[in-house]
Amino acid sequence: MKTLIIYASTYGFTKDCVQMLRDNLTGKTDLVNINKDKLPSLDDFDIILIGGSIYMGQIQKKIKKYCLINLDALKSKQLGFFVCCGSDQHAGDYFKNSFPEILLEKASVVENFGGEMRPGQMNFFHKFITKMVAKNEAQNNTPPMKPLTENIIKMASVINQLT
Ligand SMILES: Cc1cc2nc3c(=O)[nH]c(=O)nc-3n(C[C@H](O)[C@H](O)[C@H](O)COP(=O)(O)O)c2cc1C
Repeated sequence: MKTLIIYASTYGFTKDCVQMLRDNLTGKTDLVNINKDKLPSLDDFDIILIGGSIYMGQIQKKIKKYCLINLDALKSKQLGFFVCCGSDQHAGDYFKNSFPEILLEKASVVENFGGEMRPGQMNFFHKFITKMVAKNEAQNNTPPMKPLTENIIKMASVINQLT
């Protein structure tokens, strides 16, 4: 069984999560950054894992488009989906908004890997939003954004049982 992980990452958190996921998978696994790498044919893979990070409630457009364009081919595979985001509370809505319902229903595993702000690498606008989010978190007592490493391990263990 061969696994393909297709992902998008704006400031590198999702990329780090995906690398950790691969390190915990026992079968042969290829990683594809949808913004940089050539997309291979799905025919060469049995398990497809797809995800990205959430900005203003939206996953990267290329991830959304890829799932729609390849809907039929994806339906015939074992599937897993993930998002990286700051709000675990809204993760359910992010999944619904990011991936076709028919694929989510078919997926063997769906996980939120949490989130991390990396202001050192951000553009001015994103830095500004980051400050506002931090202020809101403090004012409203909302749980702070954090990586959910345990969910990466969970996804790996489900996939390892399929292989
Ligand atoms: C400008 C900006 C907007 C964001 N919007 C959301 C959001 O709407 N919901 C959420 O849960 N997280 C949001 N986040 C948190 C990101 O999803 C989180 O930082 C994630 O780890 C980014 O991963 P990446 O570095 O792979 O792109 C936002 C972060 C930034 C910087």
